[in-house]
Amino acid sequence: MVVRVYRYPEDVSFACALLIAAQVTQKPDSVLGLATGSSPIGTYQQLVKWHQEGKLDFSQAISFNLDEYAGLPESNPNSYHSFMREQLFQSINMKASYLPNGNAKDMAEEGKRYDAQIKEKGGIDLQLLGIGRNGHIGFNEPAEDFAYGTSLVDLTPSTIDANKRFFEKEEDVPRKAISMGIGTIMEAKKIVLIAMGQDKAEAVLGAVQGKVSPGMPASILQMHPNAVILCDEAAAGLL
Ligand code: F6R
Repeated sequence: MVVRVYRYPEDVSFACALLIAAQVTQKPDSVLGLATGSSPIGTYQQLVKWHQEGKLDFSQAISFNLDEYAGLPESNPNSYHSFMREQLFQSINMKASYLPNGNAKDMAEEGKRYDAQIKEKGGIDLQLLGIGRNGHIGFNEPAEDFAYGTSLVDLTPSTIDANKRFFEKEEDVPRKAISMGIGTIMEAKKIVLIAMGQDKAEAVLGAVQGKVSPGMPASILQMHPNAVILCDEAAAGLL
């Protein structure tokens, strides 16, 4: 695991966008794994800028997102389908983009279908991750075991609390999501995790220097042969 510390959050976004741009430039038909949340917004803005300037072409690339809320219509402004459309897909020319279906009747089947689809497309070349304050990646919350494949998960009170900023009322925050599993994430050829701000410092410490344990899901990245963590000074403050 490589850790790179940048002074400001914008530097993290820029460095992350550079890695994604390099990936797509070197392998135009890349399979990208994408994340939602606040952390990747600056990265997506930079990618959109380069695309609009004619410097970056996604026409052969495809993407798979990490997760989606369960039971929220795709058209809901808080769904991850809506987020990705607004932040990225409507402004670039990605060949195809996939998210898990949070409204599938049988979530176990949907998880299997999603993992099979990723494999069929050749596997993820570069997976972008944020990190939860509790160390979650995707919506793999701290638990007794690592979940292998994509599945329906219960969100923890800490995650519900962190996500309520996007909703009108806390009761509106979905309690469940469908998320790529740790196995799905670890099968990516390269992983880039970004973390900004002091409230991520403990999670970054656990991910980088903690014991590898399902109680700190991001710690599994220590076992990945090609994982890089990009963080600002605030998020790296406890290292
Ligand atoms: C998002 C995701 C989550 C977020 C994490 C950090 O698709 O899977 O793991 O990356 O909750 O969220 P932000 O970036 O909003 O702090």
